[in-house]
Amino acid sequence: MDTFECIKTKIEVREFSKRDVPSEIRKKVLEAARLTGTGLNTQHWRFILVDNKDNLKKLAEDSTSGSWVAGANFAIIILTNPKYHFHSIDAGRVLQNMQLAAWNSQICSGLFTGIKQEQLQTDFEIPENLSPTIIAGFGYPAREVTGKMKKKNRLQLHELVYYEKYGNSELV
Ligand SMILES: Cc1cc2nc3c(=O)[nH]c(=O)nc-3n(C[C@H](O)[C@H](O)[C@H](O)COP(=O)(O)O)c2cc1C
Repeated sequence: MDTFECIKTKIEVREFSKRDVPSEIRKKVLEAARLTGTGLNTQHWRFILVDNKDNLKKLAEDSTSGSWVAGANFAIIILTNPKYHFHSIDAGRVLQNMQLAAWNSQICSGLFTGIKQEQLQTDFEIPENLSPTIIAGFGYPAREVTGKMKKKNRLQLHELVYYEKYGNSELV
């Protein structure tokens, strides 16, 4: 898929079908993560792949805003090291690359950031120096994703972009 088309059509999906995601697509999503750049090329992040149903349920219980992850085909916990002031930027970039790589293969995904950190840290044996920053669930969508079913609710460019100085809307 064309990159812009991929960005344009990707939406957050929180309901998944029971169909398994082929392992080569899963691998591609992880490769997209590996290939993403980090601040100072530190590569401080680590990823926990979760596909066991009981563990997906545990992930849901360890969340405050992602109970839907229990129904995902697999999930990825993104761990970053908060000693780097840019660690959450790194988390956002890698997440977006994984989501776009997945969507390029018709795999949908959703993310959540509401995490019961201590509980999750214990349940998944995460070392203290790493923080579970974002969790994403992946799978085929429960319903076909078409541009018509959910319109993206976004501000228009003229509400967002200024030319040369804040407040100057000449550009768009
Ligand atoms: C920083 C950030 C945090 C988010 N946290 C959650 C979350 O905790 N739970 C959730 O279900 N979705 C979460 N989302 C997804 C947003 O709700 C979603 O990006 C937004 O509604 C736009 O969705 P759309 O692209 O499908 O239009 C988060 C997104 C971002 C960028």
